[in-house]
Amino acid sequence: MKLVDSFGRHIYYLRISVTDRCNLRCIYCMPAEGVPWIPHSEVLSYEEMARIVGIVAELGFSKVRLTGGEPLVRADLPGFVKMLLQIQGIEEISLTTNGTLLKKYALELKQVGLERVNISLDTLRAERYRDITRQGNLSDVLDGIKAAQDVGLSTKINMVVMRGINDDEAVDFARRTYQGWHVRFIELMPFTRAAEYVPAEELRQRIGSLGSLEACSLDGNGPAEYYRLPGATGTIGFIASVSKPVCLFCNRMRLTSDGQIRSCLLSDEGIDLRGPLRSGASAQEVKRLILQAVAFKPEGHPALESNSLKSNMSRIGG
Ligand code: 5AD
Ligand code: SF4
Repeated sequence: MKLVDSFGRHIYYLRISVTDRCNLRCIYCMPAEGVPWIPHSEVLSYEEMARIVGIVAELGFSKVRLTGGEPLVRADLPGFVKMLLQIQGIEEISLTTNGTLLKKYALELKQVGLERVNISLDTLRAERYRDITRQGNLSDVLDGIKAAQDVGLSTKINMVVMRGINDDEAVDFARRTYQGWHVRFIELMPFTRAAEYVPAEELRQRIGSLGSLEACSLDGNGPAEYYRLPGATGTIGFIASVSKPVCLFCNRMRLTSDGQIRSCLLSDEGIDLRGPLRSGASAQEVKRLILQAVAFKPEGHPALESNSLKSNMSRIGG
């Protein structure tokens, strides 16, 4: 089956926030004191999440990305990946992680069949890393990246660019593509007032000082535009979430860790699946709720430049 929404978009990609918890406190994501965690009893079990994936697979979904919070702080994530890959119709599982625990899990993740990992890294300077994440160690992430590459996971590095905070490192990140990194620059969305975003076009010009950027393509399901520097094996991607929203090509739905299905990152409205699931709803009933959420998927969202968003990124998973 092919699921098409009210605006003709093919919907086949589910992002699951497996936990709202995180071992970092990035300045653009959480307040210093953290946010109240969702109680464990309200978080879906892996079995419950897998049941939902089974139902969306029947609706034609074939790809799943696991996000957080930090997905690897939840016990036995590799076991969950394995569980999902046994579901008929699910072809690819990927992961978005801050990378701090990847050294420990990369091999196991590869062995159970994970294909891609996106690693969030906003600076290559140790002191600055501590400032941005409030409690992280850069070396943990660098070790994690290396571990992921060594075991053969397909790896991308995501940098959220903030004016006056880390934008001076964009060129340094771009240089890493000479050693095979795939780097993507993401415009900061105004979830908190941590900083101002830098338009992708401005970055593209700055990075152009290294050489002429040639457009290219890279496998994936996301909204990035890719380029390559002459002689580089890695690619440079830009995700212009603020200056040029890509809603027109959006192929995804989201499942929060407490069991709401949402049609847009920027909408606080979701349909609760946990209640029905726990009170014995049939697959047909759950399917109907999911289709209802798809039917509500907006065509686009209002401009992001000025307003600060209410949503909490650590709960919806980026
Ligand atoms: N704007 C853009 N990206 C963000 N992320 C978290 N908060 C924001 C924001 N306000 C990113 C993380 C990670 C992914 C899960 O979402 O850096 O790459
Ligand atoms: Fe954690 Fe990601 Fe939020 Fe940073 S951005 S605090 S790594 S969930």
